[in-house]
Amino acid sequence: MKQQAYIDANKERFLDELFDLLRIPSISAQSAHKPDMVRCAEWLRESLLKAGAERAEVMPTEGNPVVYAERIIDPAKPTVLVYGHYDVMPVDPREEWRTEPFEPVVKDGRIWGRGADDDKGQLYMHAKAFETMVATETLPCNVKFMLEGEEEIGSASLYKWCADHKEMLAADVILVSDTSMLGMETPSITCGLRGIAYMQVEVQGPNKDLHSGLFGGAVANPANVLSKMIASLVDENGHITIPGFYDDVRLLTDEERTAFNSAPFDIERYKQNINIPDVAGEEGYSTMERTGVRPSLDVNGIWGGYTDEGTKTIIPAKASAKISMRLVPNQDHETISRLFSEHFKAIAPAGVTVKVEALHGGAPYVTPTDLPAYKAAEKAVEDTFGKKPLPFYSGGSIPIISGFEKILGIKSVLMGFGLDIDAIHSPNESYGLENFYKGISTIVKFYQYFAESK
Ligand code: BES
Ligand code: MN
Ligand code: MN
Repeated sequence: MKQQAYIDANKERFLDELFDLLRIPSISAQSAHKPDMVRCAEWLRESLLKAGAERAEVMPTEGNPVVYAERIIDPAKPTVLVYGHYDVMPVDPREEWRTEPFEPVVKDGRIWGRGADDDKGQLYMHAKAFETMVATETLPCNVKFMLEGEEEIGSASLYKWCADHKEMLAADVILVSDTSMLGMETPSITCGLRGIAYMQVEVQGPNKDLHSGLFGGAVANPANVLSKMIASLVDENGHITIPGFYDDVRLLTDEERTAFNSAPFDIERYKQNINIPDVAGEEGYSTMERTGVRPSLDVNGIWGGYTDEGTKTIIPAKASAKISMRLVPNQDHETISRLFSEHFKAIAPAGVTVKVEALHGGAPYVTPTDLPAYKAAEKAVEDTFGKKPLPFYSGGSIPIISGFEKILGIKSVLMGFGLDIDAIHSPNESYGLENFYKGISTIVKFYQYFAESK
């Protein structure tokens, strides 16, 4: 109770601090923001020190630095390792934002700004839960923090960094808030994440842009060709056509499918939220199954030729696309990248040359729901949200989570507090104030239950 009193008494300051964090434009995808990554890491290091860490460092990696902090109260007690990411997605399309992406504001009970949910708002709940436990002298176990700056670009440097610091990172569980819940009335805990294979393709035609009248109809148009090749990757039933793509997909039993589809999911609200006339996807599967346990293939960006004001009559010399595939157990991202690459080259018509590059990839993850830490999260969420949370398979990816298991041998619990209305990665990202504060209270409770279970 004194913990909740502390949270209530310091609410405003917690929010002010989060706003300072949100003002740093730590966009990992854009090299112009390199200095902001370092600034953001430094800011977090200081914040964790003030919150009660005995040790807090900005540690270099081959890419953006990792913020590491710890407070060891007793080596004999269990240890929680908190993971989060301080990098955020680019803000484009800029003109769609109703407020400045890096000038956070509170409106309608929500925090608006890039990173408000993903993941600054969520990771900061952990910093403030930690502060609360230290200040009220109720911290029941050891805590370590590992906050990275490359999650949104595939966590390339973190794998090696983890392998290099295995001992320092030793823990009983990794606690992560970087996922969402089904709703405030239907709390849930993510126990499945999809993997990913992210590709970039380029179709090259003539050695320069050509007059589309003089050459049109007589030369392969890379933009036409690319469109056709991409269209052929998914058939009319929503099946991905790459040979061997489904070979390692684990099929659900009828029982699992029933359990999966009994989760309360309001398809009308889902459609309304993103303003689409209908859903689409693989034949024979529900929307929950399509994102939770089936793989998918999507163009993330496509370009080529003239896209500026007015018209220009050309056949573009080349056309390109960024394509991601979301993977499920037991698909392997390296195998899938290879199959994609081979297939994409094989379907290229004469008259063009094709380049394929794998940009990043990562494995899917499943949290066993009988894990003591999962049970502790379940109890904590039930305390603050008034209902036992449902286990839920999310369509998103946090590829490093399976890396943690492989490299460090530690399982993760994904106790996230986002909602589907938060518009992560989209313009006008937001995060509910209620989610932020309830998240802090829930995390404090998690530590209690987790320490008791050990
Ligand atoms: N926090 C998200 C992942 C997420 C969000 C999982 C909501 C479940 C529910 C994370 O920051 C993210 O966006 N990951 C990327 C990974 C990719 C860039 C390798 C993704 O899923 O696109
Ligand atoms: Mn995230
Ligand atoms: Mn993200």
